[in-house]
Amino acid sequence: MKLDVLALFPDIIAPALQTGILKRIQDAGGLTVNVYNLRDWTTDKHKSVDDYPYGGGAGMILKPEPIFAATKELNVESDAHIVFLTPQGIPLTQPLVEALSLENHLILICGRYKGVDERVRQKIVTSEISIGDYVLSGGEIAALVIIDAIARVLPGALGDFESAHEDSFSKELLDHPHYTRPADYEGMKVPEVLLSGHHDNIKKWRHVEALKRTAQRRPDLLQEYDLTDEELAIINKVKQ
Ligand code: ADE
Repeated sequence: MKLDVLALFPDIIAPALQTGILKRIQDAGGLTVNVYNLRDWTTDKHKSVDDYPYGGGAGMILKPEPIFAATKELNVESDAHIVFLTPQGIPLTQPLVEALSLENHLILICGRYKGVDERVRQKIVTSEISIGDYVLSGGEIAALVIIDAIARVLPGALGDFESAHEDSFSKELLDHPHYTRPADYEGMKVPEVLLSGHHDNIKKWRHVEALKRTAQRRPDLLQEYDLTDEELAIINKVKQ
């Protein structure tokens, strides 16, 4: 996958790309990320990327010309899915991350200031995405969130590819509790079943704990989930 980022503060993103899974997947050739400074496509001597809004009002607006010029240059094959990061976008979810991970070429445009000229939205952008109901000072951190989430579901990113598809949200349930050694830490004991070596019982326990945790913390996720009678009974017990 090729991923181009257009940002006003590329330095927010670039260092994170040199660490952990993000670095590993790029070194292995599974992902190419280029972070560009939008100012490189300005033509005036002040390298202006923003201007006052027509009609007045507070705040500056990202100008259309540098964004049109940059995407024209980066999307020569016209095959890119172009994302604009904004709190007005559709919420980022794990299914959306997985859909994006199947694209060959993504261009992420990071917003700043009051917003972007509407013609960028109309002519260039394929989708607008929000990483949550809060306002960041710019789209760079949101872009980094998306890049990280995509990178870890790409084939070869995790040592064990299966684990990306078994974690929280991929199955619409939160993850079950995890333990590692020691079996007894200052009197706090690991549940007996996990030490038993009985794989069927462990699997069952994990599923019940995942259901309980989801029912307690995120009951909204269960609406999407096809529950058996047995699972419903577990959830009703949690509710009581
Ligand atoms: N830019 C500013 N806030 C944002 C958010 N919540 N998601 C995506 N881009 C943003």
